[in-house]
Amino acid sequence: MLPQRVREEGGRGFVQRVLREQRGDRSRAWAILPVGRPDVIGQIRLIDIDLSYRHRSAEVGYWIRRSEWGRGFGTEALRLVVRFAFSTLRLHRLQATVAAGNARSARVLEKVGFRREGVARHAHRRAGRWRDDWLFGLLRSEFLS
Ligand SMILES: CC(C)(COP(=O)(O)OP(=O)(O)OC[C@H]1O[C@@H](n2cnc3c(N)ncnc32)[C@H](O)[C@@H]1OP(=O)(O)O)[C@@H](O)C(=O)NCCC(=O)NCCS
Repeated sequence: MLPQRVREEGGRGFVQRVLREQRGDRSRAWAILPVGRPDVIGQIRLIDIDLSYRHRSAEVGYWIRRSEWGRGFGTEALRLVVRFAFSTLRLHRLQATVAAGNARSARVLEKVGFRREGVARHAHRRAGRWRDDWLFGLLRSEFLS
């Protein structure tokens, strides 16, 4: 299952948005492919990259095709991108926003060292109801590489 926004805009719309967002230096996107297979099974992105002295932060978001869940791809991709963010971009802080109750994604974040920092109440609407988001954060000094 794909995230709601991606389902709504369709594959072409999603790719166009990612390419548009990537024109500046405020976002980076990667496709996820299993070793030895040519098919894309997911994506992971850094968005809202802020390289300023005051912030040095970004948000990470990702999804994996449902038929590939539970095989470690999400954790491996996140760990690689977090390492890139802290080592190559020299960021100080990363954050992630997850729909409240998304225990699988929370587990992936916690395996890489993210901590749950709070709840954003009624942060998005789905199927006619306002839903909370969980906010996660990770500092460079906490990263379990
Ligand atoms: C979140 C997502 C990327 C995880 O990808 P994945 O490849 O299945 O993740 P992994 O296999 O690396 O790890 C999944 C972990 O969650 C655990 N898990 C699975 N179901 C769970 C549940 N209901 N509750 C708690 N943990 C759960 C697994 O046991 C595994 O942890 P473990 O290694 O300690 O056993 C994938 O489920 C997805 O694309 N979801 C939809 C989009 C999404 O939620 N994106 C995140 C928004 S930022």
